[in-house]
Amino acid sequence: MILVTGGAGYIGSHTCIELARVGHEFVVFDNFSNSTPAVLARMEQIIGRPVIWHAGDVRDPAALDKVFAGHPVSAVLHFAGLKAVTESISQPIDYFDHNVHGSIALMGAMARAGCKTLVFSSSATVYGPEQPMPVAEDAPCAVSNPYGRTKLVVEDLLNELGRSDPQWRIATLRYFNPTGAHPSALIGESPLGTPSNLMPLVCQVAAGIRPSLQIFGDDYPSPDGTGVRDFVHVMDLAEGHVAALDFLTKNQARIVVNLGTGHGTSVLEVIQTFERVSGQRVPYEIVPRRDADIGISFADVRLARELLGWVAKRDVDEMCRDAWRWQAANGS
Ligand code: UD1
Repeated sequence: MILVTGGAGYIGSHTCIELARVGHEFVVFDNFSNSTPAVLARMEQIIGRPVIWHAGDVRDPAALDKVFAGHPVSAVLHFAGLKAVTESISQPIDYFDHNVHGSIALMGAMARAGCKTLVFSSSATVYGPEQPMPVAEDAPCAVSNPYGRTKLVVEDLLNELGRSDPQWRIATLRYFNPTGAHPSALIGESPLGTPSNLMPLVCQVAAGIRPSLQIFGDDYPSPDGTGVRDFVHVMDLAEGHVAALDFLTKNQARIVVNLGTGHGTSVLEVIQTFERVSGQRVPYEIVPRRDADIGISFADVRLARELLGWVAKRDVDEMCRDAWRWQAANGS
């Protein structure tokens, strides 16, 4: 049985679908602070059977102990956490509390239950702005905001934990830019409030919810001047988690691995692709660069291929198509 914290969230829910597809049993643990139980009903529709779940907060040791006592958990996929950079700057204590304190409470509960296999959601944001691309896992880390700092602190903690007790099997996965949705359009990304990431905003503009997209800068050193990111389909990410879990089952190891496609796509290219595959117009205006934005970011994906046998299979067309299908079916 796999425990999935944050299993009703964007990446967590898609990963649960993939776990079910390959025959893993799982239990969702989520406080629904940035999701709703309705997602679980959608997941049940996709997988055709009930989802086992508990409402609870990873910062609550008693709630965690109860889950471990109630289920034979062999490994944990830890998605639960806050993830908005701007919000983290205005609410640093909340971010450290949810992301760092929450992870510590989880590690404690795992140790008490004798479950020492963990896949942790980290982010390419830990690499900082000045790296040559593609960026590999051994590049120096440098974070510029509280959100990134919480990810790095937990990575450090996991290193120390592994050093203190080699029975721990830990995969730290550094995501690049997750996007897209399940092809059924039953689950997808539904940020509460105003989205800050590119694709949900593109979708809302295409749906007429917003008049136009602001492109943050066209003077980056990229072919069209707009920022470049390594967008990776959320179902590819889901498969990456299952591959990491399989790796840890076979190897008593601690690994840090990038999950991306290895290809950069510019903001303008995303808009053009989106317009082509959706048939919708996405009006935009160029505005100054966003504070603390980096220009170009894409992953060195060799380690994921070598260690996990995982490569991202879906292209930007598919990401845009699935994101739009989700928006068209669910957005208002
Ligand atoms: C952001 C976070 C990063 C986090 C990641 C995933 C910042 C500075 N970084 O990364 O820490 O891990 O999300 O959640 O917030 N863009 C526009 N107009 C928009 C929105 C975005 O032009 O309205 C551009 C950005 O300038 C960037 C690209 O689109 O070039 C992607 O932006 P975004 O989706 O916010 O992701 P990141 O900046 O990579």
